[in-house]
Amino acid sequence: MSLHSLLIFLSSLAIVFSYHQYREFKCKTPTNTIRGGPDRAECHLELKAEETDTGRPVPTGLGCWREDYKGEEREYCDIVCPNSHTVFISFIDQGHRACFNFLTYQLEKKDNETYLWRSGKCLNSTVNYRIGCKFDDPFETQFKTDNDVISHLRARARRV
Ligand SMILES: *[C@@H]1O[C@H](CO)[C@@H](O)[C@H](O)[C@H]1NC(C)=O
Ligand SMILES: *[C@@H]1O[C@H](CO)[C@@H](O)[C@H](O)[C@H]1NC(C)=O
Repeated sequence: MSLHSLLIFLSSLAIVFSYHQYREFKCKTPTNTIRGGPDRAECHLELKAEETDTGRPVPTGLGCWREDYKGEEREYCDIVCPNSHTVFISFIDQGHRACFNFLTYQLEKKDNETYLWRSGKCLNSTVNYRIGCKFDDPFETQFKTDNDVISHLRARARRV
């Protein structure tokens, strides 16, 4: 085997030995507006192992809380990717009129957890995100079942 093909072989192994998860984070207002209407959106998280899987929804609002940031309200939601080394948004509705990255929403790491916050008109908009998380170890080493994920989210709700 040449050095070149050996390197290709090793980098394909590295891809195989990184573990990933996907999330859908879905927010909906009564009028389904993407411009920020008079109503708060209700949001829920869906768990997925593969990007193309059907999401396994957790109860609406679970893992979310409100915080004041320099006089502006933010809603933070736990996306349940603790101890991931990479988190990224793989999809958001195109041409959104109220949800803008770094302005009215952002992924934010705190300690070993990652949250998605929204603010301003994005709080009152229908919006759908798909988020990917990458881990060094299989997700099941942290959460054996979806009930463990739900307990984690409930525990967070109690802390805030
Ligand atoms: C969002 O909805 C809330 C609750 O209905 C309302 O009080 C608030 O003014 C709305 N925010 C915006 C930016 O329209
Ligand atoms: C996050 O890290 C802290 C210590 O760094 C640890 O006690 C805690 O269990 C970790 N949380 C998770 C969900 O792994």
